Amino acid sequence: MKKVLSFTLAVLMVVVCVFSFASCGKKGKTLDEVKKAGKLVVATSPDFPPFESLDGEEVVGIEVEILEKICEKLGVTLTLKQMTFESVLPGVTSGKFDCGMSGITVTESRQKNMLFTDPYCLAAQAIVVKAGSTVQTKADLAGKKVSVQTATTAEEYCMGNGYEVSAYEDNEVAQMALLNGNVDAWVIDDLTAADMVKKYNEGKADSDKLVILSEAMTTEPYAFAFAFGSEDLVAEINKILKTMLDDGTIAGLFAKYEAPYTAPSSAK
Ligand code: ARG
Repeated sequence: MKKVLSFTLAVLMVVVCVFSFASCGKKGKTLDEVKKAGKLVVATSPDFPPFESLDGEEVVGIEVEILEKICEKLGVTLTLKQMTFESVLPGVTSGKFDCGMSGITVTESRQKNMLFTDPYCLAAQAIVVKAGSTVQTKADLAGKKVSVQTATTAEEYCMGNGYEVSAYEDNEVAQMALLNGNVDAWVIDDLTAADMVKKYNEGKADSDKLVILSEAMTTEPYAFAFAFGSEDLVAEINKILKTMLDDGTIAGLFAKYEAPYTAPSSAK
């Protein structure tokens, strides 16, 4: 009787293992599966100009144009799904979406849970304050209140540095927290800071403007995210990306959106 029981238990355990491997293991689509579907379903948080932002109903920006070109080469259509940034990466790893496009920084901890294409540019975290602020350097941030977007590298960096962090789902709300005086500084990726601050400052008196401090924190490579299982798809996309990096297409897109371009190779 005991033997029968332990045998049954062993069989059960194998079944559970096989099932959980199949369901938690590889959620990503292969190159063939994407081609068959005829579309690449991409999760995005369009509050991140010049990479992705809304122009009316339409998502526009550097990353949209990069992925449009990639999809064209793959022979599939680009299908964008909008959500907050904190939903993008979980949506990709769970296999709900084929790809994540959101100015996503490649980090070691994220790499444990998902695949990334090769990076196509480098960015950094920037500190934004109100004109006349007592915060003028990174050192001045000690013990101060900062706003960040939820689930971003800015949040991780600021928590890690012991600042008093207020996290907001939406970048514009994080900016608003600074404007309202709820926080002393807003920490956000440098190129998005430049874009949003430029728009905000238009037509304002110097004393009402936002200021980006020159001291950048961190170095962050941006790439597109995929779930494990999409290895051959990512390899194919890397080939296309390499051509776009080598022939100046990527640098040209940054120029089109008036953003300074730092190539990923300058990390070395
Ligand atoms: N680069 C940062 C990160 O990966 C911020 C990205 C925020 N993206 C966005 N579309 N709001 O965490």
